[in-house]
Formats: sequence, structure tokens, C-alpha cells
Amino acid sequence: MKTAFIAFCSPAGSTGHVARVIVDALEERSIITHLLDLGAGQDPSPFIALLKTAEADDCLFVGSPVYRDVAIPPVMKFLSELPVVNNCPAVPFVTWGGAISGIALWQMGKALQEKGFFLAGAAKVMAVHCMMWQSDHPVGQGHPDADDNRQVRSLVSTVIDRRLTATAKPMPLSALDYQPDSIAADFKAKMDQPWMIIPKAIDQARCTQCGTCETVCPVGAVTLDPDPVFNARCFDCFKCVRECPEDAIISSVPLEKIESNIRQRAETYKEKPFTQIFF
Ligand SMILES: Cc1cc2nc3c(=O)[nH]c(=O)nc-3n(C[C@H](O)[C@H](O)[C@H](O)COP(=O)(O)O)c2cc1C
Ligand code: SF4
Ligand code: SF4
Repeated sequence: MKTAFIAFCSPAGSTGHVARVIVDALEERSIITHLLDLGAGQDPSPFIALLKTAEADDCLFVGSPVYRDVAIPPVMKFLSELPVVNNCPAVPFVTWGGAISGIALWQMGKALQEKGFFLAGAAKVMAVHCMMWQSDHPVGQGHPDADDNRQVRSLVSTVIDRRLTATAKPMPLSALDYQPDSIAADFKAKMDQPWMIIPKAIDQARCTQCGTCETVCPVGAVTLDPDPVFNARCFDCFKCVRECPEDAIISSVPLEKIESNIRQRAETYKEKPFTQIFF
């Protein structure tokens, strides 16, 4: 492998952490890396222009958190805008918060294949559930940890070694279709449904119009007018709610209710709360 492209979106930091572990592992093997943070307001065009020249010994890594069983809109939009390439390897990775990892990896793998990439590997990485930031014991607490990092590094090493020795066989998309049939169909149907948003209100007595919510939003979905106003780009990451210094953004579904739903989903689905690597 000569060059690696790493694109990710990470409102709460765990997917970004995994992206950096990937970059470190690649650079230790002297691979040239290009990094694109889809939530940092960066213009993706130079990255995409470089990617157009990608060859069979390059590799694209794409990372998303799992939100309500699927990959998040900024990542899927990025994948839909990729150029069609000729047989370049790709590695989708997700972080998930211990409720259920859904079909996000399959969804990303499918979008990559449709653009002419072949699947060289994949990872679902255990992470703290970012909607439980006020809980003493959030699901996934402490993750990604050292062992999660080690597994991600081993994924990168194996992908590189297989490219060097040309022993790589494309991974079938079906390897990422690991949820029981009974629930996978429901999750796949969600891909065509409008993105769900929990309405949020501004507590005007608390809001100081400091602009933090506008600054931290990964997709420019908040503007001050003079109080914060949300636009249709919002994909419900709750970063503005978490980072408001005055707790002035009020979720219409109480956070305690969201937490109990998450614990209930973990209990119902019983997906093993571990990181898993796919080849
Ligand atoms: C709106 C929303 C929905 C989520 N849905 C799920 C889910 O269905 N399953 C799950 O295990 N985690 C879910 N999570 C937790 C995230 O997948 C997890 O915390 C992830 O690591 C966040 O990535 P980030 O830190 O890179 O933003 C959800 C988080 C948010 C904000
Ligand atoms: S971060 Fe909070 S206090 Fe600051 S403008 Fe936004 S809602 Fe108001
Ligand atoms: S407005 Fe808030 S919840 Fe919506 S995408 Fe921006 S930071 Fe996330």
C-alpha cells in the first residue's frame, strides 16, 4: 500500500479516536496518509480529487458512528459523492455505543462497492454511548480502550500485509450482514426513511447567546438569530446540547428516558459488547 485515505465524522470523538489509531498504524508502516474530518467544515474536494487517482495498492478507510442502527448522514453523503474508482480497496469502520451496531457497516460497505471499491476489511469498535454523558455508568464506559486500539492496529497491519503480498481476496458484503434476519430487514428499511430528529428548544432564560452551539455543530445546523435556530442539516448528534455551557438546549425527550431506552435496547438485542474485526 502506498497511500491511504481516511475520512470520518465524529461528533463525540470516539470515531475520530479510531481514525487517529488507523493513521498512526499506517504511518508507522511508512504509508502516506490523507485525513478528512467530515465534521470540521473542511472542504472535501481536494481529498476527493486525490482519491480519483487511487489505485489498487492504495486504500480508503471510512468511519461513522452508528445512530439508530445506521451510519450517519454526513458519512453517507460523502460516500454518495465519491468518484467511481477501478477496484480500489476500502475499509469501513464504525463505533457503536453498546445498544446495537445495526446495519451501518453493511450500509457503508454497499455504498463503497457501488462506487467500485472492494472491501479489504472492516471494524465495529465498541465505544462509550455518547448520549449517556450525564450518566455515572454509561454503556460502553472506557471504550475504545487499549485492546480496542490493538485490534484496530491489527486490522491495519493485516490489510497492508495482504496488499503487499497480493493475497487479498475481496471480502463479500454478506460478511457485514451479521444481524439476525428478523431485525436486519427493519433496519435496512430505515435507510429510506426520513432522518429522525428529537426536537430541541432553547431556554431563553439560560441562553447567553455565546455561540458555542453554532461553533461546535459539525454540519453548520445552528445559527444565532439572536437565539440559536436549528436548520434542516441537523442530524441529532446532540453535540450542541452536550457542549452548551448553560444547559440551555432542552431535548423534548428527557435524557433519563433516552438512557433507559438505550439500556433496554442493549438488553433486548444482546449484541456482544466487543470490538470486532472483519476480513
Ligand atoms: C442520535 C444517536 C443515536 C445513536 N444510536 C445508537 C445505536 O443505535 N446503537 C448504538 O450502539 N449506539 C448508538 N449511539 C451511540 C454512538 O454510536 C456511539 O456513542 C459512537 O461511538 C459515537 O461516535 P462519536 O464519538 O465518534 O461521535 C447513538 C448516538 C446518538 C447521538
Ligand atoms: S451554547 Fe447554549 S448558551 Fe451558548 S448560544 Fe448556544 S444555547 Fe445559548
Ligand atoms: S444542531 Fe446540534 S444536534 Fe444538530 S447536528 Fe448540530 S450539534 Fe448536532
